[in-house]
Amino acid sequence: AKRENLRNIAIIAHVDHGKTTLVNEMLKQSDTLDMRTELGDRALDTNDIEKERGITILAKNTAVHVGDKQINILDTPGHADFGGEVERIMGMVDGVLLVVDAFEGTMPQTRFVLKKAFEQNLTPIVVVNKVDRPGARPEEVVDEVLDLFIELGADEDQLDFPVIYASAMNGTSSYDPDIQTQEHTMTPIFDTVFKTIPAPEDTSDKPLQFQVALLDYNDFVGRIGIGRVFNGKIKIGDQVSVMKLDGSQHNFRVTKLFGYLGLDRVDIQEAEAGDLIAVSGMDEISVGETVVSPDHPEALPILRIDEPTLQMTFRTNDSPFAGREGKFVTARQLEDRLMRELHTDVSLRVESTDEAGAWLVSGRGELHLSILIENLRREGFELQVSRPEVIFRNIDGVDSEPFEAVQIDTPDEYTGSVIDSLAQRKGEMQNMESTGNGTTRLEFLVPSRGLIGYATEFLSLTRGYGIYNHTFEKYAPVVKNWEPGRRNGALVSINQGATTTYAIMGVEDRGTMFVHPGTEVYEGMVVGMNSRDNDISVNVTKAKNMTNVRSSNKDQTASIKTPRDMTLEESLEFLNEDEYAEVTPENVRIRKQIL
Ligand code: GTP
Repeated sequence: AKRENLRNIAIIAHVDHGKTTLVNEMLKQSDTLDMRTELGDRALDTNDIEKERGITILAKNTAVHVGDKQINILDTPGHADFGGEVERIMGMVDGVLLVVDAFEGTMPQTRFVLKKAFEQNLTPIVVVNKVDRPGARPEEVVDEVLDLFIELGADEDQLDFPVIYASAMNGTSSYDPDIQTQEHTMTPIFDTVFKTIPAPEDTSDKPLQFQVALLDYNDFVGRIGIGRVFNGKIKIGDQVSVMKLDGSQHNFRVTKLFGYLGLDRVDIQEAEAGDLIAVSGMDEISVGETVVSPDHPEALPILRIDEPTLQMTFRTNDSPFAGREGKFVTARQLEDRLMRELHTDVSLRVESTDEAGAWLVSGRGELHLSILIENLRREGFELQVSRPEVIFRNIDGVDSEPFEAVQIDTPDEYTGSVIDSLAQRKGEMQNMESTGNGTTRLEFLVPSRGLIGYATEFLSLTRGYGIYNHTFEKYAPVVKNWEPGRRNGALVSINQGATTTYAIMGVEDRGTMFVHPGTEVYEGMVVGMNSRDNDISVNVTKAKNMTNVRSSNKDQTASIKTPRDMTLEESLEFLNEDEYAEVTPENVRIRKQIL
């Protein structure tokens, strides 16, 4: 059997395409607000809803009631720093509502979110919004969506997506792209959700399995775990077990359950398979943990949580300069505030340091941490932050650093400079493809270290027209002898029989050799480069098994001159072209790429 009156969906939209306006309009034109008035006072008494408001613009879960039916709408963060969270949200729903601006069309920022939706085989519905805009081109936009879906590997069924044309601003929608057919109704959207998105299976007769996918927090009830009841039932007073990630099991009596009404969280007595609910009063319940019945202690598969890869030191700014804006913040206040953040953010770590009033804060990326800093400042916290640093780890005895998968869309004319800029940051190109309409799509694997400060450089490189996303890919061995931001060398490849080895040669610092990870240093290998007069001389080692060779050590190296007379600049430019500068002996080549 199925829960025919219930649907769980996620909403995906590029910034400003109208997600908030649309959800508000769906709420307004539903029966949710009436229900609130009926339930309102009671809910307010027990739950102090007023105090909880204003935490988020769009709640993590918005429940829209249409007659006796309910649609749960989960918001998705649109930025790739939050890949794990997106994945977990997609695991709680059965379909997605993609909102696209009828003028702007598809925006690649939402690509990674959509990709996660297709990976979970979710049913998509497309809402082409803002059809009232002058210059709106709704039908072309649908074609763009189709192209994007194909590119992301949507299957046949998903390509057959329903489309609704809407003006969230005017509260109108229609199945017809013609603006004349727009009526003041959201019914086409409600109907399509119920018609095409699968209803949750009613497995409420099975043993309880409720899994927490998101966290929330409030001062009155503390830690709140939001998730989906996958099987069984849960009600106030039940004895349950929380299956922790470390395999331990903690027993609780259920004292607090929340459901959703509009944007508000309300007390409920019970919930069953298919419901999206929240629990509190189970200590530090966390993401991925399963609440089960003690007789059937079976956990659901663990959910992915993004590990922090970047850290910064936060310091209280307690130098008491007169006239300083913002309130004075004590170490204690900052600590409390940071600890509170940990209640809702599983990808954040906070550690105290040896220094009074300073904490080491680790997160997913620059955006993740900058949002936190921005929020703190807005709340009146004055603090100083250090430059971000990536977090190194030792994995099985090997020092490793984080790498990110980078996706880029750039107008064709900037492709060259984008490739160069990432090559300097130790990026390895994985894929390059022309979209056919004047832009090129690039994929790189880049050490996270290399991406610090890249967003700004990228924006100016592409004059603001490029689009840049990155997701954590893996920890891999540390790139040795590399300091991001130094432009001081060339990549040299040496062919020896069947193998090609790469050496990175210093230029500015004349002769210090930089070795690419995995590079074997051997006799005859290029270890340095010097420029003098109009020549570049390339140094080759005579010694075996050397590391960090200094080419100035004449006893151990021999010099070869490039066959052309060039200034250093010309040489570097030459190397930068997609050509090889042959040097003798024949197996040594200087490849393009300046570091
Ligand atoms: P973020 O929350 O910032 O990601 O944006 P959002 O996707 O929630 O967009 P939001 O609803 O805030 O709308 C962005 C802007 O578009 C606002 O100025 C809206 O008034 C406007 N807007 C939303 N829907 C429509 C529409 O149907 N037509 C027109 N012309 N403008 C709209």
